[in-house]
Amino acid sequence: MGSTQEEVEVSYDVSNEFFRLWLDERMNYTCGIFDGTDNLEEAQVKKLEWISNAAKVTPEKRVLDIGCGWGANIEYMVTTRGVKDATGITLSRAQAEEIGARKLPGVEAHVISYADFQPEQKFDAVTSICMMEHISTPEQARKGEHISLYRDYFKKVWEWTNPGAHFGLQTILRNRVPRNRTDLRDIGWVTYKIFPGGLSLRLEDVIMAVNPHWEVMEIRTRREDYGKTTGEWLRRLRLNEAAIREKWGDEVFTDYERYLDTCVRGFDKHYQSLAQYSLRRID
Ligand SMILES: C[S@@+](CC[C@H](N)C(=O)[O-])C[C@H]1O[C@@H](n2cnc3c(N)ncnc32)[C@H](O)[C@@H]1O
Repeated sequence: MGSTQEEVEVSYDVSNEFFRLWLDERMNYTCGIFDGTDNLEEAQVKKLEWISNAAKVTPEKRVLDIGCGWGANIEYMVTTRGVKDATGITLSRAQAEEIGARKLPGVEAHVISYADFQPEQKFDAVTSICMMEHISTPEQARKGEHISLYRDYFKKVWEWTNPGAHFGLQTILRNRVPRNRTDLRDIGWVTYKIFPGGLSLRLEDVIMAVNPHWEVMEIRTRREDYGKTTGEWLRRLRLNEAAIREKWGDEVFTDYERYLDTCVRGFDKHYQSLAQYSLRRID
């Protein structure tokens, strides 16, 4: 189901030092919110704030972050929102090592798929920033299996939570198919080369799949913010071109340049967008 561990490692285990060169200082690998700022670091904090508000995170709540990346969101919740008990799950060993190295109090990070996760204790709040893109492969979606995979995911998260829980969610959206051959080819290339086994979602898929477990309280789309985020990643990648070519080889640089350039075009031309959701558990 969805991206396998080997496929996830293709996407996230190039090297932690490589991603550190062009992401923000906390290493968010997802869209920031550029309201009132052009600065990537500030935009990422605004995104983390939005997600914590959507999940109604407060210090006494036990919080789960699904697809926790290198720990940016967990670090924010612990250091800025006063959370004392946070668990992250990721399929990337390199990411879990980075979280361990941050030595955050009250934090556990596990290398496990959401599909196998069986927590001993329930959670009061859940966040997940752009993990759902790994739940269905393009092939599964073509066979019409994606909605039941997403529904099964939302059911699991419901089972892991206490009554009254809120869920702050973010997903990349695929909005329309490119009309020209270059864009079609590049988007296909990103899907299979950079994020094998992954597929961005359609907004209507999420709306169908949350039922009957979660009530949609709020949705906000942020297509232009993701265009700006990927544009800034591309600018920072290019600034580090010489070091990247020397340390990880020409192919890594040219692949990541092509991928980020394709993303900037994809958001600009409405092929893709981004959605943030506040969900409330139906009790
Ligand atoms: C695009 S990254 C986002 C990371 C982080 N949330 C952020 O905002 O930077 C997607 C994350 O989902 C994780 N992931 C992918 N498939 C997963 C699965 N089946 N179970 C748990 N995590 C998964 C990856 O390991 C990665 O940490």
